[in-house]
Amino acid sequence: MNIRKLKFYHFRNYDKASFSFEENGIHILRGNNAQGKTNVVEAIYFLSLLRSFRTSKPNLMIKHDEEMMMIEAQIESKERTEDLKVVLSEHKKQLFRFGQPVSTYSSFVGSLNAILFCPDDLMLFAGAPSQRRKFIDTELIKLSKTYTATLSHYQKLLKDRNLALKSTPVDRALIQVYTDQMIEDEKIIIKQRHAFLKDLIEKSQSLYPFFDDGKEVMDAVYKTFVPIDENLEQSLKEAYATSLSKDLFYKTTQLGIHKDDFIFSLNGVPVIESASQGQKRSVLLSLKLGLAHIVYEKDGQYPILLLDDVFSELDEGRKRTLIQMLPEQMQIFITSAEPIQTDWFKRKVFFYTIENGTIKEEVHERNE
Ligand SMILES: Nc1ncnc2c1ncn2[C@@H]1O[C@H](COP(=O)(O)OP(=O)(O)OP(=O)(O)O)[C@@H](O)[C@H]1O
Ligand SMILES: [Mg+2]
Repeated sequence: MNIRKLKFYHFRNYDKASFSFEENGIHILRGNNAQGKTNVVEAIYFLSLLRSFRTSKPNLMIKHDEEMMMIEAQIESKERTEDLKVVLSEHKKQLFRFGQPVSTYSSFVGSLNAILFCPDDLMLFAGAPSQRRKFIDTELIKLSKTYTATLSHYQKLLKDRNLALKSTPVDRALIQVYTDQMIEDEKIIIKQRHAFLKDLIEKSQSLYPFFDDGKEVMDAVYKTFVPIDENLEQSLKEAYATSLSKDLFYKTTQLGIHKDDFIFSLNGVPVIESASQGQKRSVLLSLKLGLAHIVYEKDGQYPILLLDDVFSELDEGRKRTLIQMLPEQMQIFITSAEPIQTDWFKRKVFFYTIENGTIKEEVHERNE
């Protein structure tokens, strides 16, 4: 998958801007701090998920003192070329595909698949379990419509069940109805999370040693509240039956996949406990590239890779390793405030200089 054109109108610090990108190229966005490099990455990510990775308030993306903003892109996928457009004003978000308005989130999301790695991702290991669930969910949502529907159904049931636990008098029959339905959803979610993590770790494990000279083995464990085996349904029923008195006491659901966690480790030690910054970056890079391979297996094409401020932090050896491991049919965007000099191993590399919301200079370099 490739973005060939990207246009902004009143987006962040851009007034009007237009970019062209090359098929399967590595695009380096250089420039001093606060010039608009990450804004470009944010726009691509936004077209992919209709959500920013920097803010939960989309209106902040509208240029100061303006009323609306627009992001527009031309995407080339395996099957076709298509145009995507988002127009956002304070009270309204309009979505367009092929120039035609689309009314639902699900008919827009999925046209562009992008995988992002930004400095905040390093918090994945140290942060709350909710961050690790979000990491896994974001990818599963892109991969499986069943997962998306089941997860949102579960979240609604959880809300309803918590309300029922708070009401007086307590309607136990109603609580049981919610519990039974939650168990049905959880059977699907647990199996999908389990299978996805297994696949992701197998792929990432085969990539990680290249970053670390084969010294360490990375792994991950899925922690949920029941054993994952052929007795899953029975275990779920028993777990809820046992915790009902606690649920009634605390007036909230104590158990469920909304508390799941995923523990990442190096040589059996949780990453959070002893990994260096460089090791954390390498684990994350392996995970992100592992994700790209999962997408390739499913779609027959690689997602777009967005590396915001991570490349220049790697040591020379790890940079070279990364470039060699990047699939040739993957379009890549790298932002950096530092000049990047490294061996590009015959990849097509294109340099852009971003200055105060404009593309100041555009140097195309082919490494042949
Ligand atoms: N809604 C907005 N309207 C106008 N300018 C904005 C808006 N939101 C952010 N900016 C400006 O965009 C700039 C930040 O852009 P961006 O985060 O892309 O910088 P960057 O080039 O990635 O910098 P760094 O190297 O520090 O990461 C800042 O100057 C900020 O004031
Ligand atoms: Mg930045």
